[in-house]
Amino acid sequence: MSLKDELIQDRLPSHVAIIMDGNGRWAKKRGNARVFGHKHGVTAVREATETAAELGIKYLTLYAFSTENWNRPKTEVDALMSLLVSTISAETSTLMKNNVKLNTIGCKEELPKSVQAKLNTCIEKTSENTGLTLTLALSYSSRWEIIEAVKRVAADVKADKLNVEDINADVISDKMATAGIPDPELMIRTSGEHRISNFLLWQLAYSELYFCDILWPDFRRDDFYRALLDFQGRERRFGKTGDQIKK
Ligand code: FPP
Repeated sequence: MSLKDELIQDRLPSHVAIIMDGNGRWAKKRGNARVFGHKHGVTAVREATETAAELGIKYLTLYAFSTENWNRPKTEVDALMSLLVSTISAETSTLMKNNVKLNTIGCKEELPKSVQAKLNTCIEKTSENTGLTLTLALSYSSRWEIIEAVKRVAADVKADKLNVEDINADVISDKMATAGIPDPELMIRTSGEHRISNFLLWQLAYSELYFCDILWPDFRRDDFYRALLDFQGRERRFGKTGDQIKK
C-alpha cells in the first residue's frame, strides 16, 4: 500500500502551513551558492502545492520570505526576488490547471514593484479558482502582523466602532492578515530546525507541529504524506483530557 493510500480522507487537515527551510545547506552540500538551493526549492513548492490540491486540502501557507530575510546579503535577496518574479510568471498556468487561488500575507509594499506587479496579476487571474488557496508569506513576520492587528483594533476603539469589553479572540483573528482563513491544524518545518521563527504565532496556538530532517529542495510527495500520516496519528485535545475527547 502506498503512503497516500494510508491517509484517511476525512481526517485531513483543512490548512497546512510550512516553514520551507534548508535551501542554503542543500546548495552548500553540493558546493554551490545558496541561490542554487532556492532555485531547486521551487520544485518542492510546486510539488507541495500539487499534492495539497490533489488531496483536497483547502489552504496551504508557505513561509517564503520573512521580514528578517531582508537582512541577508543583497545578492541573495535580489536573487530571491528575481526567482519570485520568474516563478510566479511560469507557474500561473499550473495554478490555473490545479484550480489554485493565490494569496499573500506580509508587508507587500516592501517588495520590489516588479514582484508586487507579478503577484497582483497572478492573484487577479486565479481569484475565481475554488480549490486550494495557496498563501505565500512574503516580507512577513508574525510580530509585524500582530502589531498591525493591534493598531487596527486601537483605531476601531478610537473611532467608537468597537468597545474595549468586546475585544475577544475572534475580533483579533479578524484583524490578522489571515482573516477568513481557518488556523492551520498542522505546521511542518523541514531541515531539522525546531523553531517557529516568527511564523503565524497567533494562528499556531493549537496546531500540531511536525519537524523533519529533509532539506526543503528534497521535500517530495511522500514526505508530505508522512507528515499528514503523523498528524492523523495524533490526538488533538485543545486543553481537554483524552477521555473528554473520546466521548
Ligand atoms: C529557507 O532556507 C528558505 C527561504 C528563506 C526561501 C524560500 C524560497 C523558496 C523555496 C523559493 C521560492 C519560493 C516561491 C514561493 C516561489 P534557508 O535559505 O534559510 O536555508 P538554510 O537554513 O539551509 O540556510
